[in-house]
Amino acid sequence: MFFNKKVILATIGNDISVAEQFLAKGELVAIPTETVYGLAGNALSEKSVLSIFETKNRPSFDPLIVHTDSLEKLDGLVYDFDGMAEELATTFWPGPLTLLLPKRDVIPDLVTSGLDHVAVRIPNHPLTLELLRQLEFPLAAPSANPFGYISPTQASHVEAQLGESIPYILDGGECNVGIESTIVGFVDGVPTIYRLGGLSVEDIENVVGKVNVLPHSSSNPQAPGMLKSHYAPRKPFLLKSRKELESAGNDVAVMVFETPLSNSGSKQRILSPTGDVKEAAHNLFTYLRELDSLEISEIWAEYVPAKGLGLAINDRLRRAAAL
Ligand code: TXA
Ligand code: MG
Repeated sequence: MFFNKKVILATIGNDISVAEQFLAKGELVAIPTETVYGLAGNALSEKSVLSIFETKNRPSFDPLIVHTDSLEKLDGLVYDFDGMAEELATTFWPGPLTLLLPKRDVIPDLVTSGLDHVAVRIPNHPLTLELLRQLEFPLAAPSANPFGYISPTQASHVEAQLGESIPYILDGGECNVGIESTIVGFVDGVPTIYRLGGLSVEDIENVVGKVNVLPHSSSNPQAPGMLKSHYAPRKPFLLKSRKELESAGNDVAVMVFETPLSNSGSKQRILSPTGDVKEAAHNLFTYLRELDSLEISEIWAEYVPAKGLGLAINDRLRRAAAL
């Protein structure tokens, strides 16, 4: 039997008061940040948080990041915001840093998947900062993509995948940084990176000294976001040497760092023609999406230089390739 189901697509706009009204009613809104777009809901409402997990098809054991706009508001959400955590926050917020801190009871256990620490950050995007200022609650927001797929860095990316599931996408343009925030926690007082991201290891070490970087692992993930299958395109994605890339056939799309291949034409994306890892991070997810939508059978890519944000990019490339 054929049902003529009416599909209602999200409105895309930049009206903070519309976003605020949906959020206050417990509904979800996609919000821009400097890293990637988030799928936001009231972090203090179990109903809204549950609906985030359902909309993303995300397993409930993968906890969410809580977003706020001020250190004063943060004080009402966590304990022990002092020492190195405070130094990092005052240096990098608003910005692509997430801190793991002991949660207060106002944060529902659902947000942290039962863990006693909550991930928090003040994002750096004018529209979202203004929205957070006006709201009476913080926003829980994972990246606004179906679980396991590439994170969205433009409103149109959100619309393509979640447009039928949410009422509003707050359009803040392209995300400047382009990869998710760096997650820092403290293990026996040692600053520890749980996820490489938009703030480099050097930047963090300049403030707190030597940090420990947790390797990602699918078997025993310390942060569930360390699951290997994250950030994957739909097409098979393979990491190759330069020499192998040169032999890519017509049904293969390629993504290179700086120097174009002579053989790939429009099925090629160059992450940064000037060899800048920041520019590469900015382009990474958009280019992966573009290549994923072409009529090809596989996507091949090369590693980028392992410096600065290059470490986070290579982490995403490895996960996309499920290595
Ligand atoms: O840049 C970002 O961080 C974006 C924007 C929207 O802020 N958000 C984002 O959220 O990337 P999501 O849910 O895609 O990734 C958050 C990661 C997850 O991998 C989760 O496992 C980890 O943060 N995480 C959250 N709470 C945690 C906790 N209490 N302990 C350890 N890891 C945690
Ligand atoms: Mg995500």
